[in-house]
Amino acid sequence: MGKLPADARKAAGQRVNALKMAVEKAFEERLAAMAKAARDADLSATPFDLTLPGRAPARGHLHPTSLVREEMLGIFRDLGFVVASGPQVELEENNFGKLGFPPDHPAMDMHDTFWVKPLPHMPDAKVLLRTHTSNVQVREMLSQKPPMAVVSIGPCYRTDEDMTHTPMFHQMEGFYVDKNVSLANLKGVLTELVVRLFGDRKVRFRPSYFPFVEPGCEVDMGCPFCEGVGCRACKGTGFVEILGAGMIHPVVFEACGLDPEVWTGFAFGTGVERPAMIKYGIPDLRLMFENDMRFLAQF
Ligand code: DAH
Repeated sequence: MGKLPADARKAAGQRVNALKMAVEKAFEERLAAMAKAARDADLSATPFDLTLPGRAPARGHLHPTSLVREEMLGIFRDLGFVVASGPQVELEENNFGKLGFPPDHPAMDMHDTFWVKPLPHMPDAKVLLRTHTSNVQVREMLSQKPPMAVVSIGPCYRTDEDMTHTPMFHQMEGFYVDKNVSLANLKGVLTELVVRLFGDRKVRFRPSYFPFVEPGCEVDMGCPFCEGVGCRACKGTGFVEILGAGMIHPVVFEACGLDPEVWTGFAFGTGVERPAMIKYGIPDLRLMFENDMRFLAQF
């Protein structure tokens, strides 16, 4: 418009205006026609049947891992244990150091650890994703006074992945600290756990090694798949391993500020997925993490 001679501008302006109005009118008409067509289609469609029965909303339920977690915690609540929790991102000190793993201890190689960047306010402290729930033992002993009986269940992480290992899995840790605690107390409590979870069956205590207990043991139970006869699941032995346990090592008490001349205790740790798989006859660990409704709906 600016480039037109002044006497031509008025006529050009009128033409442009007329064009604009024509386009707007056509647009409005088209819009109205489309709305009417949609309304007509609605009115002539098969009517919506208000008498159809409603669809029931799908009802959720706990995951098998959670079912077993609740069952395990229930057993220990009955036995007078309190339930605690600890962080999943943990200082190396609480995951290894205070549990009697000296730096470069070979037992640390059994825990394929995810290391995490140091925390801004503690640049010199090594940080990791906890490889077991034994960190709760350390944290509780540092913050509570004995006697104490504590269990804790939660996620742990290791850089493992194969048929029987996943990078994230759950563990239960438990411990009891008091005066004059003996291996008999450990055997009584752990036998009770096995029998309540899996029914009356043989329980076997086998010497084993963990840096934070002395003596240490592994706990096996009569194979639930073959009732002890020997099968693939128990590799012909008649037993499956389910727990690590032992009498709390004096170095752990010392690291946590408790006098090992006064206090005694036992500790134990177990997975949660494996007992759940045994209990429900689940053949493949990966099923526990895939969230496939065909699997989950069976519980
Ligand atoms: N923390 C051990 C692991 O992850 C399990 C364990 C063994 C815990 C013996 C304990 C124990 O408290 O006494 O393999």
